[in-house]
Amino acid sequence: MKQKTLPLLLAITMAWSLSAQEIVISEARYMTGDNPAWKSAGIDDSGWATLDVTREWTYQGVDNENGYGWYRINLTIPSSMKKADSLKKAFVIDLGFVDDSDETFLNGKLVGKIGTMPCDPEGYEGKYNSPRRYLVSPSLVRWDKENVISVRVYNGGDPGGIFGGPIKLRMASLADITDISFKEGENTCRISVSSPYKLKGTLCLEGKDLETGETIDGGSTKAAGIDIPYEKGRQIQWTATFTDSKTGLTASRTFIPKYILTPEAPKAPRYNGPLAFGVRPGSPIIFRLPFSGERPMTFSADGLPEGATLDTRSGILGGKVSKAGDYRITLTAANAHGTVRQTFTLKVGQKIALTPPMGWNSWNCWGLAVSQERVMSSAAAILNKGLADYGYSYINVDDAWQADERNADGSIACNDRFPDMKGLADWLHSKGLKLGIYSSPGDRTCGSYLGSLDHEKQDIETYNAWGVDYLKYDWCGYSREFAKSADKSVAAYVRPYLKMEEYLRAQPRDIFYSLCQYGMADVWKWGHAVDANSWRTTGDITDTWESLYDIGFVRQAELYPYSQPGHWNDPDMLIVGKLGWSANLRDTRLTPDEQYTHISLWALLAANLLIGCDVSQMDDFTVSLLCNNEVNAVNQDLLGQQAKPVIVDGDIQVWARPLADGGTAIGIFNLSSTVKNVNIGKYLRELGVSGTVRDLWRQKDVSADDRLTAPHGVVLLKVKK
Ligand code: GAL
Repeated sequence: MKQKTLPLLLAITMAWSLSAQEIVISEARYMTGDNPAWKSAGIDDSGWATLDVTREWTYQGVDNENGYGWYRINLTIPSSMKKADSLKKAFVIDLGFVDDSDETFLNGKLVGKIGTMPCDPEGYEGKYNSPRRYLVSPSLVRWDKENVISVRVYNGGDPGGIFGGPIKLRMASLADITDISFKEGENTCRISVSSPYKLKGTLCLEGKDLETGETIDGGSTKAAGIDIPYEKGRQIQWTATFTDSKTGLTASRTFIPKYILTPEAPKAPRYNGPLAFGVRPGSPIIFRLPFSGERPMTFSADGLPEGATLDTRSGILGGKVSKAGDYRITLTAANAHGTVRQTFTLKVGQKIALTPPMGWNSWNCWGLAVSQERVMSSAAAILNKGLADYGYSYINVDDAWQADERNADGSIACNDRFPDMKGLADWLHSKGLKLGIYSSPGDRTCGSYLGSLDHEKQDIETYNAWGVDYLKYDWCGYSREFAKSADKSVAAYVRPYLKMEEYLRAQPRDIFYSLCQYGMADVWKWGHAVDANSWRTTGDITDTWESLYDIGFVRQAELYPYSQPGHWNDPDMLIVGKLGWSANLRDTRLTPDEQYTHISLWALLAANLLIGCDVSQMDDFTVSLLCNNEVNAVNQDLLGQQAKPVIVDGDIQVWARPLADGGTAIGIFNLSSTVKNVNIGKYLRELGVSGTVRDLWRQKDVSADDRLTAPHGVVLLKVKK
């Protein structure tokens, strides 16, 4: 560990500043290990290291994976802060975030705890993406005297420590101690105000329709809640203001209830998928024709090459074609409401994944609590809720399916939660869906399950025998192998992936090869050289705007030259719907507009579209986000050109990509936290594109007028040639 010891006084002046009644702290004392005495005041921590609290310890030379560490901040808190506050209800200790669990003490007393530690009776559960804003009784603060804030942290896997700060200390504002929440019902939306401090006051509601500009009076109440009208098709921004009757202080929150833009699909058949599908000669074809429309539906195909089959009732293309070539096929789908024809190319050759993969992955919902039953339940919902009719077809089991030990012959085995992996694959294949699996080139995965190190060939052969169609290969435990050698060249990063590629491509089936190593050594520059079908470009995504903004907008901006049919940049899985990374699921924390932005950007980026939520609990809004055929057509466009940012105008960014039919897909994003009036015509002129302008979410042609755009919202357009 890098020790940075500084004289105490200097450390304190560097570490914090007091402004506008807020203390901002950027550094703290740090010690690896665990000792209950470290929570108390009066401990000599002058020999501890000094760490930046805005970044995890891992990035500051501290090697402490799966371990405890303590932070301590010694400081005088001036009573002027309390005097200047008219509420005097609580003192706020805002740490930012902690990777993964913490216990926070003020002067030796526990004042906050999020996540659990291995020594807790219930065992370890990390909560690295929960904000740590603790409300503390002002009586616990030693005003004008020395205080100590001590934070015990447990890191359940790299990275670890306090991050996302700086740490902020202040007297609580009305907003800190009131919670204004809303919940959509069928026809009304319930707005509630609550506080642990039993406040009395008035709640007022005012709305603005962002499509028409009309203002709406939502009424007011002295009660704890009020119902306002809710129409699923209208985008209304509401401002709820709570006025505390005692102090006259106000706290407000603006929100936009979920609104559905995607028009309902017609009852007649409609084709919603890519216009081509790639398969290697002799590999089994698994392609469920993505037609929406009322069932029963019958299917036929003209021009099927020898060896290819079509089940006329289920619409599943199967069989094997041994002769390479581009086969133009006319697909026909018919039901009680009509008959539709669609031309389609089956490309038999060496290239697979001609368009980005669409499907589901267990990680963002179930984390390490995944089971075969849970996988099957999401797969069944992909079929029942119609998502398979839009091309969602990969069902990917992430980490935590492996047994504790390999079989006697060294082959990999499943744990009790996966009683029959082959049965799962067979069942998925019978529905036209595909199975994905997860492993690591290291001895262990990120969740500490068995990895494939020294068993690469054996493992991929087992996957082939089970019928696996997708492998996510996650670096993780390989870091230990990597550390053993001084070779840190690009070749050293490539090596484990090249090794698996050789065995993987030798299998007699098409296995999508997904690299997960967080973008190290500019993986986008060599991913195609190991025949990877996609590569993660960043660390893990989480369901916050900060994460979406950083991964989606900042880190993908320069990557467009590296993406192409067969080889895609992967900015990580979708964060819409019910998520949780554990057995405890909750709604995504993204606003509806952030979700529109997420799906629009992933469409423009030609990103993997892997649903991260429990599909069995998916609501109509989330289905409407994922099943807009015109939006998805941008993602699945055969040109495969990833969008790039073309205009940056303050908080407005315009991203665009050319499409195979000569049109241009354009996303105009409002990255600010306020509503902006976006002048569509101006941007189109700057881009030099003209033609019919189509609003892809609303699926209608529009004029290039001004448009009110929600905070973190988007206007997604296609300009047709
Ligand atoms: C991470 C990976 C996640 C998930 C997790 C499983 O390294 O980025 O997507 O696969 O491991 O433990």
